Amino acid sequence: MKCGRSERRACPGVPAGGSQRPPMPTATVILPAAGRGARFAMPGGGGRASPVGAPETKVFISLAGRPVLAHTLDRFAALEAVVEVIVPVPPEAVAWARETFGERTASGRPLIFVSGGEDRVESVAEALAASDGKSDLVVIHDAVRPLVRRAVVEEAMRVAMERGAAVVGRPVDHTVKRVSDGRLVAETVPRENLWLAQTPQVFRRDVIARAYERRCHVVGRVTDDAQLVEAMGGRVAMVCGDAANVKITTAEDLRLCEALLEAGWPFEGDVRTKRAED
Ligand code: CTP
Ligand code: MG
Repeated sequence: MKCGRSERRACPGVPAGGSQRPPMPTATVILPAAGRGARFAMPGGGGRASPVGAPETKVFISLAGRPVLAHTLDRFAALEAVVEVIVPVPPEAVAWARETFGERTASGRPLIFVSGGEDRVESVAEALAASDGKSDLVVIHDAVRPLVRRAVVEEAMRVAMERGAAVVGRPVDHTVKRVSDGRLVAETVPRENLWLAQTPQVFRRDVIARAYERRCHVVGRVTDDAQLVEAMGGRVAMVCGDAANVKITTAEDLRLCEALLEAGWPFEGDVRTKRAED
């Protein structure tokens, strides 16, 4: 039998603190935040109150004393390449969000709140329509992933500039079962070549604009932006990110984010190197 190590796929990740690279192109950042958080609000889903006046959604609840969205905004405010940040929120939250978060990011870039749509794709489409259209890249990142690391965003931007589209994700390292209706295992799915897609997903502007123009022709449920690029035959490159880039879906995820922040995330040194030796 081969040593288990031979099975591991290369996922060297991005070093802490970024790398010495040429200057970044300019980027519009879109942070979809218009979801209703149905799974978070489900019985047993957790539930914590939003700030007074805020729509009761997970994007605005408190994470370590500040709204989840405030953490996510901070992650992007620090990036020099960013020229504007656009946040689709539920229509009834637009005025409140402007009042609460202001009209500029911490680094003085325009911070634009727009009404989101019925699903994530329509929310992103609204944000694209509100963009000034001048940046080289469009970075789309779930507002409910507040722990994304700057160096990972920068690496995705670099790859997208080079190849047109880049998705941050992780190789699947669990055993994967396909399950039938009665929760019986139908098969074990080979995990080689399987990745879990996260955000950010970064695109050259022309690529994502064309993909969104053609979105009505895509059949089936669309759960990320890259899917639209794939549907028009575009190439999408994967970039290895962090397991700690948690997407807050239930209250357990919120507590996980709190624990990571408490533990000092983003950690100094490369956690993945240690992980590979486990
Ligand atoms: N999103 C959005 N517009 C929608 C639906 C989702 O902007 N109509 C955003 C969410 O606010 C979130 C991101 O897309 O930041 C990822 O979606 P998800 O985790 O599914 O959030 P919700 O749709 O809010 O949650 P749920 O599916 O449990 O209702
Ligand atoms: Mg959803």
